[in-house]
Amino acid sequence: MKNSQKIAGAEGKLGVLLVGLGAVSTTTIAGVIAVRRGLSKPIGSLTQMGTIRLGKRTEGRSPAIHDFVPLASLDDVVFGAWDIFEENSYEAAKTAGVLDADLLEQIRPELERIAPMPAVFDRKYVKRLDGPNVKRGKTKRDLAEQLREDIRRFKSDNGLSRLVLIWAGSTEVYLQESEVHADLDVFEKALDANDDSIPSSMIYAYAAIKEGIPYANAAPNLSADVPALLQLAQETGSPLAGKDLKTGQTWMKTLLAPGLKARLLGVEGWYSTNILGNRDGEVLDDPESFKTKEESKKSVLDYILQPNLYPDLYKDLHHVVRINYYPPRGDNKEGWDNIDIFGWLGYKMQLKINFLCRDSILAAPIVLDTALFLDLAGRAGMAGIQEWLSFYFKSPMHAASVYPEHDLFIQLMKLKNTLRHLQGEELITHLGLEYYD
Ligand SMILES: NC(=O)c1ccc[n+]([C@@H]2O[C@H](COP(=O)([O-])OP(=O)(O)OC[C@H]3O[C@@H](n4cnc5c(N)ncnc54)[C@H](O)[C@@H]3O)[C@@H](O)[C@H]2O)c1
Repeated sequence: MKNSQKIAGAEGKLGVLLVGLGAVSTTTIAGVIAVRRGLSKPIGSLTQMGTIRLGKRTEGRSPAIHDFVPLASLDDVVFGAWDIFEENSYEAAKTAGVLDADLLEQIRPELERIAPMPAVFDRKYVKRLDGPNVKRGKTKRDLAEQLREDIRRFKSDNGLSRLVLIWAGSTEVYLQESEVHADLDVFEKALDANDDSIPSSMIYAYAAIKEGIPYANAAPNLSADVPALLQLAQETGSPLAGKDLKTGQTWMKTLLAPGLKARLLGVEGWYSTNILGNRDGEVLDDPESFKTKEESKKSVLDYILQPNLYPDLYKDLHHVVRINYYPPRGDNKEGWDNIDIFGWLGYKMQLKINFLCRDSILAAPIVLDTALFLDLAGRAGMAGIQEWLSFYFKSPMHAASVYPEHDLFIQLMKLKNTLRHLQGEELITHLGLEYYD
């Protein structure tokens, strides 16, 4: 059991650097400012509203998570960002159209102070976008060095003690892991050679990890999830989390699928379709970016339902995922799921889900929690993949030797047990036989 003394305190300010100042980032930033000012509540955030049971059920100990582990206070969080557009976070939040003008006006001066630094961007990887606020550099290594300069300058200008960097930029085109990503030396030579297998998100990940700061990926791009960068993270002590925030339809899938499997009900087909009209939807309208997203969304059911263990129930499952760009809806995505299931003696049934959600409202608390928990991991000396943060991601990073855990309730148990472990508390197994001795 780890000794709680080993976790450094959360004193001083925490910088949260966001790549991409779009819908998710501005909703996170504005939300934190609004909560700090007492204008709103941090609904959906485990770090702000969650509790954790300690010891036996008879002990009645359930402290707030933020009282149990040393997390940075929202008052100490300082945001910064990069984007290809020059709009500050007030203007960008208005463009994103997620939050009411009334709320944005109340916090306008604080939002206006957060203006994006010039981005590392190449249209090769995000075909539907282009913007003026972009860095120039001869090589990808050169660009990574410019990002490292930005990170250091942001830290000293704001008097920060620690930093976390999160990719909340657009979904890049589908890219498979190759030999360029297999080893750090090869990867660094490829940076010098401007190799096409290194997209912008990987340059940010490299810069963050090289600086030894925690890095998370809110999108499905490979980014830090390659052996070369995992190796670098071990060397520099960077904790990593990703990929792709588990918000709307996939979150719902990881709630329902474990329930169906728990009752050993068969699933013949799962048809999921969405309409959304924000910039993310526009980028995902490009088939190459959609493929990256599709891979991330589709793997979930295979892992949860385990057709290899339950061939009679799941081996012939037809799983289809569609996303359609439909501007009138903006960030207010609508998802439909039709699930064809079967029960006792093969009798068929259907489930229909119509989820009228708000993408960035679901994503913002996850970005905040990921930033605060990664900062905790950094202070606890935990480097590399933080599998206990799988709870937040559609396509969780995991060790090569194991399959990813997608079941939301197992993920939550893993997260809370990790916190108990860090603080030297008994893990909770739910055995409970002692109550009946
Ligand atoms: N909202 C959700 O529920 C949700 C869930 C899972 C994943 N995501 C992912 O999170 C990401 C952000 O989503 P969003 O809704 O905020 O999208 P968005 O389009 O509103 O914002 C993305 C921003 O990233 C910027 N950008 C793109 N490439 C960049 C680069 N190389 N450097 C700096 N900035 C760059 C764009 O200009 C844009 O402002 C997307 O990849 C999306 O797929 C979102």
